[in-house]
Amino acid sequence: MHVKIADDVYWVGAIDWNLRIYHNTYSTHHGTSYNSYLIVDDKVALVDAVYAPFSEELIEHISEIIPPERISYVVVNHSEPDHSGALPALMKRVPKAKILCTDKCKGYLEKLYYPNWEFTTVKTGDEVRLGRKTLSFIEAPMMHWPDSMFTYVKEDSLLLSNDAFGQHMASSQRFVDEVDEGIVWEEVAKYFANTLYPFTALIKRKLDEIKDSGIPIKMIAPSHGVIWRKDPHRVIDKYMYWADGMAEKKVLVAYDTMWENTAAMARAIADGIQAAGVDVKACRLSASDLSDVHKDVLESKGLIVGSSTVNNTVLPAVAPFLEELKGLRPKNKLACAFGSHGWGGGAVKVIEKALQQAGIDVIQPGLMARHSPDRDELKKCFEFGKRFAEAVKQDEAPAKPSASVILGE
Ligand code: FEO
Repeated sequence: MHVKIADDVYWVGAIDWNLRIYHNTYSTHHGTSYNSYLIVDDKVALVDAVYAPFSEELIEHISEIIPPERISYVVVNHSEPDHSGALPALMKRVPKAKILCTDKCKGYLEKLYYPNWEFTTVKTGDEVRLGRKTLSFIEAPMMHWPDSMFTYVKEDSLLLSNDAFGQHMASSQRFVDEVDEGIVWEEVAKYFANTLYPFTALIKRKLDEIKDSGIPIKMIAPSHGVIWRKDPHRVIDKYMYWADGMAEKKVLVAYDTMWENTAAMARAIADGIQAAGVDVKACRLSASDLSDVHKDVLESKGLIVGSSTVNNTVLPAVAPFLEELKGLRPKNKLACAFGSHGWGGGAVKVIEKALQQAGIDVIQPGLMARHSPDRDELKKCFEFGKRFAEAVKQDEAPAKPSASVILGE
């Protein structure tokens, strides 16, 4: 069913209630939607399509409003298949429609679909008049592909932002203020953490450019999830906060354990953090969804990573977490490492090296325990957590750490 979102502007997308993994990189516990927008004027424009399996739904939703053949322009803000997959089916119905997109997007669409469509490439500041309404384009490379752009409907102060500001969330409602905002914000953070984190410098520049341009924004309609119609600047401000490397003064303890000894250390460290008056979350990586953990990394100033040692390195569930951190490169974090071992104790060094390679400050010496930490050693774990939490509270790194500490030696 289509939904009117502004005068002569309609949501005509599709709801994917059962999507549980998005482009094979992160989990979508709440499903998603592929949002397309139809702007009906003297000329008709469709902004973004949907994923291929939903092509007929898109065409049906358009047909509820106008004959699809009336479409003059198909704007493709971004070529990834969740937004372009329906193009072959749609363009069969409107073969003379012009596709408006960035030059990079044109190249990607040609390679993805080998089409013989009519393209007009656009740049920031280019405009297309539909009649009463004007579409204005804003290139937004790496939000989140090099081809990405936003379409701005001037007369409605409506920003059609594609992936940016979106959330993977299936819902029978179309607006943020109609659903559980807690889930919306969780999904906004998860999208940023898993997709946009490596590009914060570019994102910051783009958001500054939009703010400096002074264009009024009354509504932000992304291509996933629900639409921001009440104070949409909240989500722009949140993006700016993360792009600036800001995070709440809380600590994530991410670890895995072989015989519960590293888990015992994790609990004592978490207690110490809590005793210092800092919020803490401890998660065992082998029992966690990595894309959820990345969201927690985004939202936490402090990160403590722990692992038992096996074969002189970290446990299998810790390795991919560290590897992904190197790609995501979280900004302005404070970190340290811990773990138990039988005889070698290589895991802490491996963690510290990976954190440094991810550009994260390791601010205090790693803590290691042989086999089971005893009562005194657990007390040292508690102090370790407390000391780290104090640094997070002060939000400044002390002098570079010295060598790791092995408890009981
Ligand atoms: Fe929603 Fe980058 O695709």
